[in-house]
Amino acid sequence: MKIAIIGGGPAGLYAAILLKKQRPEAEITVYERNRADDTFGFGVVFSDATLDNFEIYDPPSYRRITQEFAYWDDIAVHFRGTVHRVGDNGFCGCSRRRLLLILQERARELGVALLFEADIDDEARFADADLVVLADGINSRFRDKYIEHFQPEVDVRSNMFAWMGSTRPLDAFTFIFQETEWGPFIAHAYQYEVGRSTWIFETDPATFKRAGLEGLNEKQSADRMAGIFGWFLEGHQLLTNRSMWRNFPMIRSKRWVKDNMVLLGDAKATAHFSIGSGTKLAMEDAIALADAMHRAPTMDVALQQYEQGRREEVEKTQHAADVSLVWFEHVDRFWDFDPVQFAFGVMTRAKAITYDNLTLRAPDFVSEVDKAFAKQVRAKGFDVDVEKPVAPMFQPLRLREMELSNRAVVSPMCMYSAKEGVPGDFHFVHYGSRAIGGAGLIFTEMTCVSREARITPGCTGLWNDEQEAGWHRIVDFVHANSAAKICLQLGHAGRKGATKLMWDGMDRPLEEGGWDVLSASPIPYFPDSQVPREMDRAAMDAVKAAFVQAAERGERCGFDMLELHCAHGYLLASFISPLTNQRTDAYGGSLANRLRFPLEVFEALRAAWPAHKPMSVRISATDWAEGGITGDDAVAVARAFAEAGVDLVDVSTGQTVRDAQPVYGRMFQTPFSDQVRNEARVATMCVGNITTADQVNTILAAGRADLVALGRPHLVDPSFTLKAAAWYGAEAVFCPPQYLPGKEQIFRNSERDRQDFEDLRIKAKPKTRAELKAEATKPLAAE
Ligand SMILES: Cc1cc2nc3c(=O)[nH]c(=O)nc-3n(C[C@H](O)[C@H](O)[C@H](O)COP(=O)(O)OP(=O)(O)OC[C@H]3O[C@@H](n4cnc5c(N)ncnc54)[C@H](O)[C@@H]3O)c2cc1C
Ligand SMILES: Cc1cc2nc3c(=O)[nH]c(=O)nc-3n(C[C@H](O)[C@H](O)[C@H](O)COP(=O)(O)O)c2cc1C
Repeated sequence: MKIAIIGGGPAGLYAAILLKKQRPEAEITVYERNRADDTFGFGVVFSDATLDNFEIYDPPSYRRITQEFAYWDDIAVHFRGTVHRVGDNGFCGCSRRRLLLILQERARELGVALLFEADIDDEARFADADLVVLADGINSRFRDKYIEHFQPEVDVRSNMFAWMGSTRPLDAFTFIFQETEWGPFIAHAYQYEVGRSTWIFETDPATFKRAGLEGLNEKQSADRMAGIFGWFLEGHQLLTNRSMWRNFPMIRSKRWVKDNMVLLGDAKATAHFSIGSGTKLAMEDAIALADAMHRAPTMDVALQQYEQGRREEVEKTQHAADVSLVWFEHVDRFWDFDPVQFAFGVMTRAKAITYDNLTLRAPDFVSEVDKAFAKQVRAKGFDVDVEKPVAPMFQPLRLREMELSNRAVVSPMCMYSAKEGVPGDFHFVHYGSRAIGGAGLIFTEMTCVSREARITPGCTGLWNDEQEAGWHRIVDFVHANSAAKICLQLGHAGRKGATKLMWDGMDRPLEEGGWDVLSASPIPYFPDSQVPREMDRAAMDAVKAAFVQAAERGERCGFDMLELHCAHGYLLASFISPLTNQRTDAYGGSLANRLRFPLEVFEALRAAWPAHKPMSVRISATDWAEGGITGDDAVAVARAFAEAGVDLVDVSTGQTVRDAQPVYGRMFQTPFSDQVRNEARVATMCVGNITTADQVNTILAAGRADLVALGRPHLVDPSFTLKAAAWYGAEAVFCPPQYLPGKEQIFRNSERDRQDFEDLRIKAKPKTRAELKAEATKPLAAE
C-alpha cells in the first residue's frame, strides 16, 4: 500500500505514525514544504483527556511529548485589578516546534519517509497512491482546488489577533482583560516550557485601528503590546515569529473525502484558539482515520467511516469554539460587570463548565459569585442574606411592584385543550400544580384575543365572560395556594391560525371548521396553507381593540403580569420580520416601520394595564433564515419596546418561516438573551433547551438573563423548582402546608445525596497530570 501525505504539521505527521504502525509494509511519505525545524508559532495546548488518547495510540511519542510538557491546573482571569483563579482544569502545554520534532523523529523510526522543502501543487504525481492525505493546513491548496466538491464555508471573524511568545513564566492558563485608552485588549497566555509562554493578543477591529496597530511591523506591534501588558510582563520580552495580526477564519467543509483523498486537521475544519483545540483536533483526526482504516474492509468504506464517525465530534468542538469566540468578540458587553461575575462568565462561556461543576472545583470562587449576585439583589431593596446567600436561581426579582420569590419560570405552553377558548379542568390542574411546584412565575399559554385569533380550535381565549371566569378560577387558585405569580400571555395567531391541534399536525391547516386568517402580508405559511388577508387599518384597529379588551378581562381575573406575544411568526411577529412583512405602506420596509403596529398594540395595552403591574414582550430574536431578523435586530426591537415601557423581554427565536435552519443545542437561545440584555440594557428572560437547575444558575450568575423559563421540563415535572431548592438548600422556597412532610423529606435526602454525589465525583476524578507531577516532585520532607 502506498500513502502520500501532503503537509507535515501535527495532523499529517501523526497520521503517518499511526498508519505506519498499523501497516508496517505500507510505503508512507510525508511531503512538507518547509524545512524540518522551520515552524511558526510558540506553544500548543492539550487537555488531559487528549493526552490519554495519545497514550493509548502511540505510547513512545506520548512519553516524549509528556516529558517536554509544562503542566498547569489553574485558569486565572485578570480583570480590573482583580485575579480569580479556578483549579482542576488539567492542561498541558508544549512547544509546537518540539512537538513536530518529536513526531518527525517517531515517524522516521517507524520507517515513514519525510520529504522537506517539497511544495506539492498537483496531486496527479500520486496517481499510484492508494490514499492521499490532505493535511496542508488552514489555507489548504487542495481543499480550494476542489472547492466545488469539498464546499468549504469560511467565516472570517471580526476580531484581530496576533500570536506572540514571551519569557514570562506563568503558572496558570492566563486571561488578561485590559482596558486601554483605545478600548479593550485581551491576552490569552500559557507557559509551554521552562521560560517560554505563548501569548495570543486579541482586540476588536475598532480598538485595533484606534491603537494605531494598522500597518505596524511585527517588532512595532510587539512593542505596543509590551506597553499595554508591561505591568504583567514584569520586564520580560515579547517574542515574535510570523506574528502578524489576522482575522480568524472559522472553516467548515461540507465534504471531507474525494475519491482516495481525505482532508485532515485545519484543512477540513478549524476551531478558534480561545478553546485551544486546533492541534488536538488535528491529531484526533489522525486517530479517527487510523481507526477507520483498521476496521473497514476497503479504503472507500474506511474514508466514509472516518467522515461519518468523526464529524459530530468535530462539529461539537467547533460549536463550543464558536460560542467562545463570540463571547470574546463581545467582551465589551460585560465590561461594567462585577469582576467576579465577569470571571464566572469567562469560565462558563463555552457551556462545558457550569455553576455546579465550578462549585465542586472552586467552591470559594462560586461562593464569591453568589455573594456578588446577592449584593446586587440587596441593592434593589431586598433584605437577602449576602454572607450566606442562596444560589442565584432562588434570589428574588422585582418588576414594577410585582415581586418574584425565585427566578424559575414556567414558559408559556399551549395545551390545545380548550373548548371554544374556555380553560377547563385540565388547565386548572395544569397551572395549579405548576404553581404549587415552586416556580416563581407561571406564564399562561398563548391566550387568544378573539375567536379568529386562535392558532387551533383547542387554544384558550379571553374574549368572553365564560373564558374570563375560567381564568379567574385558575388565578385565584394560584394566588391562594402558592407563592407564584401568574402572567397572562396574549396573542393573535395571524397566518398560523386555523391550524390543527399539535398532535394532529402542527401548523397544518384545518381541513374543516377553519376561519379566515390575517397577516402583515398575504404569504401562506406552507404552500398549501390558507393565504392570509393583508391587514388594513380597520383590521388593525379591530385587533388592537381586541387585545385591549382581553387585557381588561385579564386585569379583572387578577393576573399579576401581562405578556404580548410578538414571536414565533404569529400576527404581530409577522409584522416585525422582513420575511413575512412585504408591505409598502407605513407598516413595512424599515424595522421602525415594521415595528409600528406591534408597538401600537403594546402602547394601547400599557395604557390599559395597571401602571403598577409589569409587562413583557416575547420576541423571536432571530428567524434562523437568510434575510430574516438577526440578533442585532433583536437589540433594536428590545430597545423600541423598552422605550414604550416594557419591563422584560422574553427572548425566544424562530418559527417565523418553515424553511428556517435553527442551530439547536443546550441553552441554544441564551446567547440572544445575553445580547439583548447586555446591549439593549433591558431585563430579559431566556428559554430554550434549558433542562437543569445547574444551567439556570449558570445563566443567571453569568448575567445572561434575569429570569429563566423552562417549557418542556415543566411538562413532565411540575415540582422542578421545589426539587432544585432541595438540592441547593434553598429552604425559603414556598411549599403549601399540605405538602410540607414531602418538602422536609426531600430536603433531608437531598443534603445527603448531594454530599454522596460530591464525594463520589471527587473519588472518581482521576488526578490531573499537573497533580501527579507535583506529587512526584514533592520533597520527601514534605510528606
Ligand atoms: C494564532 C494561532 C494560535 C494557535 N494556538 C493554538 C494552541 O494554543 N493550541 C492548539 O492546539 N492549536 C493552536 N493553534 C492551531 C494549530 O496551530 C493548528 O490547528 C494545527 O497546527 C493544525 O494542524 P494541521 O496539521 O492540520 O495544520 P498545520 O499545522 O498548519 O500544518 C500544515 C502543514 O502543511 C504544510 N503545507 C501546506 N501546504 C503544503 C503544500 N502544498 N505542500 C507541502 N506542504 C504543505 C505547511 O507548511 C504545514 O507545515 C493556533 C493557531 C493559530 C493560527
Ligand atoms: C407544547 C408546547 C406549546 C407551546 N406553546 C407556546 C405558547 O403558547 N406561547 C409561547 O410563547 N411559546 C410556546 N411554546 C414555546 C415554549 O414556551 C418554549 O419557548 C419552548 O418550548 C422552548 O423551551 P423548552 O426547551 O424549555 O421547552 C410552546 C412549546 C411547547 C413544547
